[in-house]
Amino acid sequence: MNPWQQIPSNEYEEHMMAPGVQQLGVLNEIFRKALDQFNPRSLCILGCTNGNGFEHLIDRKFDLLLGVDINYKYLAECRAWFAEELKMLNLLCADIDQLDIKNDCFEMIHAALIFEYVDVQKLLTKIPTWLNYGGILCVVLQTPGELSQPVSDTEFESIRKLSSVIKLFDVKEFVCLAEKNGMKEIYSYYINLQKGKKFFVGYFKKIEIFKIVK
Ligand SMILES: C[S@@+](CC[C@H](N)C(=O)[O-])C[C@H]1O[C@@H](n2cnc3c(N)ncnc32)[C@H](O)[C@@H]1O
Repeated sequence: MNPWQQIPSNEYEEHMMAPGVQQLGVLNEIFRKALDQFNPRSLCILGCTNGNGFEHLIDRKFDLLLGVDINYKYLAECRAWFAEELKMLNLLCADIDQLDIKNDCFEMIHAALIFEYVDVQKLLTKIPTWLNYGGILCVVLQTPGELSQPVSDTEFESIRKLSSVIKLFDVKEFVCLAEKNGMKEIYSYYINLQKGKKFFVGYFKKIEIFKIVK
């Protein structure tokens, strides 16, 4: 079983809000900024947990809105909180490594702290097929901190189990791989976190790849 399926949402949130971590609010703000920047009509949120930042979706117009997560309890909470105000919201409980979506569906895909837990190469070949031309992938990657392990110290045993699966991906390598798959970085920034950690936030645009046929 994937360790994420065994982390209760209250433990996840307490950990993410703990003084030495403080990442939940940062992720919420990153999502708000990306929405303001691109105002997508069709949006997929990969690894949406129980809807961190979904309040920013309210009062926006969507033709298609999809949240995906492997933990069905997170999705049940998300539905309970947001289904009333987000009528377009679809929630899918699935393993992203096995996920397949119709081609050219989304103007934007938001993937915050999910590449650490999935097959990066595989997902980076699939995302461009799910995006429209000109569509945006918004990525948040955790970079290594000198003062802390990838999974910060925690009182929660359930969170500690993530240490066996988390893999931090080199940002430069990620950018190269995205480009090889037809997604060009158009803007990026770093956010300093507790214990010397950082988030890389990148916007990637799906570009047309022309193949020269001889
Ligand atoms: C660190 S949290 C994501 C934070 C969230 N995106 C935010 O902005 O607040 C990682 C999420 O990805 C989900 N997840 C991890 N591996 C997954 C997989 N293979 N397939 C689908 N969801 C996965 C977890 O259940 C968890 O909800």
